[in-house]
Amino acid sequence: MDPGYTKFVMSEEDFRLLRDFIYENSGIYFSDNKKDLLENRLSLRLKANKLKDYKEYYYMLRYGQQQSREIKALYDSVSTNETSFFRSPPQIQALQEYALPDVVNNRLGRGEKVLRMWSAGCSTGEEPYTMAIVIKEVLKERFPEWDVKILASDISERALSSARRAEYNSYSLRSMPDELKHKYFENSGNTYRIKDEIKKLVELQYLNFADSKRVGLMRGFDIVFCRNVLIYFDDVLRKRFVSQLYDSLIPRGYLFIGHSESLHNITRAFKLVHFPGALAYKKE
Ligand SMILES: C[S@@+](CC[C@H](N)C(=O)[O-])C[C@H]1O[C@@H](n2cnc3c(N)ncnc32)[C@H](O)[C@@H]1O
Repeated sequence: MDPGYTKFVMSEEDFRLLRDFIYENSGIYFSDNKKDLLENRLSLRLKANKLKDYKEYYYMLRYGQQQSREIKALYDSVSTNETSFFRSPPQIQALQEYALPDVVNNRLGRGEKVLRMWSAGCSTGEEPYTMAIVIKEVLKERFPEWDVKILASDISERALSSARRAEYNSYSLRSMPDELKHKYFENSGNTYRIKDEIKKLVELQYLNFADSKRVGLMRGFDIVFCRNVLIYFDDVLRKRFVSQLYDSLIPRGYLFIGHSESLHNITRAFKLVHFPGALAYKKE
């Protein structure tokens, strides 16, 4: 642990105030047994703002002059940004071999050569750049004829700026085939920089999934990846957000969620599709 780290003790009342504030504003829910986690994460914010206790911090979030800046820093602190290229390889294989060829045919059947994807909760960019690489691999020499865009959104500005930098170490590329590493990255030492041909397909955007008005504007996607995000929400937000994800897809579009997540008891709108080692939800 950082030698300058000071842990500020959080009372039950402070925990409830801050937990509710975070939930109301971002949907991220800290259950009763997560007080320690919140205490660890927010102690750093108290220190950075030279505050003496959590009450001061709560008032700063509610009424302070730096309110909106601090709320963004709060989101950076309470979000979990773990991710990697080709995370859950059977899902990426399902994308490459089944879902993407299916939506390509769907578009061709409508006389269109347009592909729209959304990485909802893109963290530091590994997921949307993986999607872009897979599209290039599937379309091959047909790629230039297609109009392809991947929207990548997150609540964490820090994660988004790292996605914008698009520089990674070998650990985040650990599940990726070597051949693709050489093809789509410029490598120097332990730094791998994504090539511009991939980077320019991805549009990074701040979006808070608790903001249902703005989420409601998302439309026209062939494939949405929302992996390892729903776990941070409670059932109320999960239901509302998943129904908005459904509306964001075009007919015959696919939703992928985390490989250990399920939409059981959340929605029955989708058709569950089984691929080897992976599941996806299809809008019919
Ligand atoms: C564990 S990461 C998942 C990254 C990637 N989808 C994957 O599976 O590898 C979860 C991401 O969801 C984002 N997130 C959490 N709550 C959010 C919210 N209310 N609005 C938008 N993004 C949110 C976090 O900032 C984080 O980057």
